[in-house]
Amino acid sequence: LQQLLQKTPIYLVGMMGSGKSTIGQSLATKLSYSFLDTDQVIEQVEQRKITEIFEQDGEEKFRDMESSVLHRIQPCLGCVVSTGGGIVLRSSNWTVLRSGIVVFLDVSVSTIMKRLLNDTSRPLLQGAEPQKRLEQIRNTRLPLYTKADIHIRLNDSYMEEQLTLEQWIDW
Ligand code: S3P
Repeated sequence: LQQLLQKTPIYLVGMMGSGKSTIGQSLATKLSYSFLDTDQVIEQVEQRKITEIFEQDGEEKFRDMESSVLHRIQPCLGCVVSTGGGIVLRSSNWTVLRSGIVVFLDVSVSTIMKRLLNDTSRPLLQGAEPQKRLEQIRNTRLPLYTKADIHIRLNDSYMEEQLTLEQWIDW
């Protein structure tokens, strides 16, 4: 697989809490790739948490930063890139995503709810009725996420198991 990939970047897309960072890190190790997380890069560059950026500058500004990071790390040869859940929203981001292999990690809203129950780092989930909000976000974004080259449906328990790449990827 490593030979086949020839350092082609792999972009992981999907909802918050879908395991992009966890899976991305394991995948990078398996492939001897580097691992990058766009949210982490933004926080390092800005020296602020994502929640603070949303509060102080608003979502659109955050989306600008996200796009800018994605474009700047290009060409990320030999990288597994975990992207923020909203990266698929801007069509200009797709020109970068299309330079690599895009993998959609798909988990159910109920799984995301379980994982993010006490998580305050996702500004889009703060406030009333987070489940409804998640469902709305997922429904709006599903046509975008499914533009990915590879669609992987994950169940609740993948994190506890030691899965192989072949098991993750449902070609
Ligand atoms: C967002 C997902 C977050 C982060 C920000 C917005 C989204 O990233 O970029 O809170 O719009 O879905 P993760 O998908 O890594 O949680």
